[in-house]
Amino acid sequence: MFTLGDQPLANAFLTPEQIDEPEPRYPLVVRECADCGIIQLKHVINAASMFSDYAFVTGISQGMTAHFAELMRENIDWHVPPGGLVVEIGSNDGTALASIASHDVRRLGIDPAVNLSDIARSRGVPAVAQFFTETLAEQVVAIHGQASLIVACNVLGHIDDLDDVLRGVRHLLSPKGAFVIEVPCANWLISRTEYDTIYHEHLSYFAVKPLSALVARHGLKITRVESQEVHGGSIRVTVQHGIGHTHAVVPWFQGDSIPRDWVAFRQRCEDTREHLVGWLTRARDDGRTVFGYGASAKATVRLNYCGVSTDLMPSIVDSTPGKQGRFVPGTRQSIHDPSVIDTLRPSDVLILAWNHNLEIRPKLAQYVASGGRVASLTTTGRLNHA
Ligand code: TMP
Repeated sequence: MFTLGDQPLANAFLTPEQIDEPEPRYPLVVRECADCGIIQLKHVINAASMFSDYAFVTGISQGMTAHFAELMRENIDWHVPPGGLVVEIGSNDGTALASIASHDVRRLGIDPAVNLSDIARSRGVPAVAQFFTETLAEQVVAIHGQASLIVACNVLGHIDDLDDVLRGVRHLLSPKGAFVIEVPCANWLISRTEYDTIYHEHLSYFAVKPLSALVARHGLKITRVESQEVHGGSIRVTVQHGIGHTHAVVPWFQGDSIPRDWVAFRQRCEDTREHLVGWLTRARDDGRTVFGYGASAKATVRLNYCGVSTDLMPSIVDSTPGKQGRFVPGTRQSIHDPSVIDTLRPSDVLILAWNHNLEIRPKLAQYVASGGRVASLTTTGRLNHA
């Protein structure tokens, strides 16, 4: 068991009216199943309160947009006949489905966030603003027929009733179709000290072995696994109808059978906390001002776990319009458009959205050229001042 203490909801960015109100906090505790190795939250928060109006917009990141476009194109080539149906579970603002507008396929996005499904539709992507369930899958099949490709990226971890979703997938997936899942891999979460990927929205943290056990309960099997660098280390897993699993999956099972050292993980989390707070405290004491870059859910978790108050980091910049003018849950940093870096000229910028380092760094070139200093969190949780 590992605990991050009582934490606010990581994406519940506060409006100016809300910052004087008491903020609910919920225990953030994970535990590991001794049987299959899945890691899950001990306390589950009501899904509707987290997902019906969602702050994260996929299309903000060009890197992720390109990543999902490649996933879609590749899997359409492999699995979808002309005119076939492609369904995305957790379609967010329709970014991935929009990338295949010119393909000869039918598209359907499913996402409970009303605000994001509206955006998807405005981009020409058919979208249903509902949770994906077995019942919804039956309705989709009745209207559109079965799907040749079902994609679920960074969404399975959000789902409480995984068996209901898998029953739905089994029903919706055509006999030779593919269900492609992408999730951050729990093994890298532990080995790279990515504790900030643990938050209330993420109920489950997967590796290949627990995923295999899950899909096997529904007459499905893993036919392919690939590692991907996104989100601190992810796995892209292809699931099809059938029993057992293909030979290529076996080495992954061996890796997943190594016992996890939670004591060492906790120690590394505490070390990185001391390292970050020590650096921010020295910066403040030297009269420097540090702004954060990227008001991601990860940033909320890290700032709260490390107790980074506004005197250590007053503000964060983020290009998501819906986050600007709001405040970080718990630690209350104000969130601004990135252009304030050039107007307010903080002495240092710390990239909190470390999974987007490569995309964010070039945006700070001008600031660095005029004397600004940039540090980023690395995947080990240490700071990189290069
Ligand atoms: P994520 O870690 O959940 O993907 O969130 C990343 C956050 O960083 C999201 O709020 C958008 C923000 N961001 C920027 O502000 N500028 C950028 O260039 C990128 C890539 C992300």
